[in-house]
Amino acid sequence: MKFATNNKKINEIKSDCLMISVFNDGKLRGAAKLVSTANGKLIDDFIKNKDIQGKIGQTRIIPVTGKSYKRIVLVGCGKYENFSQKNYRRAVISALNKISKSNHKSVVSLIHDGVEKIDNPKKAYRLSRVLAESWHSISYQYTTTKESNKKNLGLRKIEIGTNGKKATRDLKIGLEHGDAIGKATQLVKHLGDLPANICTPSYLASVARKIVSKNKSATLKVLNEVQMKKLGMNSLLSVTAGAKEPAKMIIAEFKNGPKNQKPVAVVGKGITFDTGGISLKPSNKMDEMKYDMCGASTTIGLLQMVTELNLPINAVFVVPACENVPSSTATLPGDVVKSMSGTTIEILNTDAEGRLILADALTYTQKYKPKLIIDMATLTGACVVALGAHHSGLMSNSDQLAEKLFECGQTTDDVTWRLPLTEEYADQIVSNFADVANISTRGSGAGTITAGCFLQKFVGDYDWAHIDIAGVAWAEGANKGATGRPMGLMSEFLINESKT
Ligand code: BES
Ligand code: MN
Ligand code: ZN
Repeated sequence: MKFATNNKKINEIKSDCLMISVFNDGKLRGAAKLVSTANGKLIDDFIKNKDIQGKIGQTRIIPVTGKSYKRIVLVGCGKYENFSQKNYRRAVISALNKISKSNHKSVVSLIHDGVEKIDNPKKAYRLSRVLAESWHSISYQYTTTKESNKKNLGLRKIEIGTNGKKATRDLKIGLEHGDAIGKATQLVKHLGDLPANICTPSYLASVARKIVSKNKSATLKVLNEVQMKKLGMNSLLSVTAGAKEPAKMIIAEFKNGPKNQKPVAVVGKGITFDTGGISLKPSNKMDEMKYDMCGASTTIGLLQMVTELNLPINAVFVVPACENVPSSTATLPGDVVKSMSGTTIEILNTDAEGRLILADALTYTQKYKPKLIIDMATLTGACVVALGAHHSGLMSNSDQLAEKLFECGQTTDDVTWRLPLTEEYADQIVSNFADVANISTRGSGAGTITAGCFLQKFVGDYDWAHIDIAGVAWAEGANKGATGRPMGLMSEFLINESKT
């Protein structure tokens, strides 16, 4: 897809389609008004005849003659007073979806015209970034094991129109960022949707290797089980103990910032399938545990995003990856292991495995003396109970970092909600036989927080945040599929970090 700015006056725009906004008050503004007048009050008539009511996501394609553009695409944008980025995104997505299903090759979006101030740098950046991201959102298709999912999308060029104004730098950067974030989000979805018999730890490593090979500031290290054993990663190894499929610790370094600047560390849970192990999960919906590597896929997506944009940042991406399956060599409930940090762990439930692989990954990450550490994990079913599919669970030992991540979620509509990590919760994970237990031994409440408290024991004094994405990383039911979250919020965070 080619993304560009178009600074032609509206009646001189050459394109297959012009996208224009219609609000539910029926009042025409900006581009909609101009285009209607230029076409004999065409849009006014549509509204008058109730052929479009301006409902959010509603679309109408109207062919026109004698103009440099061939079609007008009316896009419902809901209530004018409530026009938010979220509504803009919904409008753009439904319009692009509609256009791409017809055989039109090019489109210029003027949805914002008359509503938003495109000459405001921040607005310009958001409008164009969301436009580019939206294309990648609707054009994602999972075809690896179902070829008939392939849609033939004819659209080749998407432009954002300025109606004669000079396109600002922010407008172009927004398109560039949106393109890279959108593509990376497609990768996150793809890896999530792949079944566990394809998407193995080794497969994840091969994807990371390919990404790193394209940027000379990036390097990759993949640790095998022998190397992990030497490093004392017995917590991680206890999870893979029942599996034939080899575990991998994938570490990508990206050094593209100031030489002495400490790296930002991103860590993602990479359980390529979670059966629960000996503490076996019930069969119902167990297939969804192929998504238990969505923290890992987002980490790899972020690696792709920063390398493609060549962001001026130092960052390290760490993915502990393995399967959690039962067998005669699997870890047994009550087993005690010594983690890489030296802390001993009583494994009371082998289904609380994410924290076990993250413990060693978090310890290992400190080797890079990071500025801060953020981990993402489909960690607890309790998070789905608490926050559902809307907010990710955010936990942190740093108010400042938590605040920043919260804000990134708000600006990108990839929202989080903070949960407390106070001592009372940490007191729930005591063990009579080890330094810590991997589940609560003092009541069953606060499962998401006790998991967070467990992780906190492995981050030392580093500024750290944990994002529990169990409820947001994939959708269930008829629309089953990975969502690509939390790419939006995390790409925002890394882009911001690259500017400091
Ligand atoms: N991967 C799961 C968490 C999960 C469950 C995510 C359902 C999304 C949907 C994790 O490894 C797990 O099994 N957690 C246990 C922890 C419990 C044993 C303390 C859980 O949430 O049941
Ligand atoms: Mn589990
Ligand atoms: Zn899991």
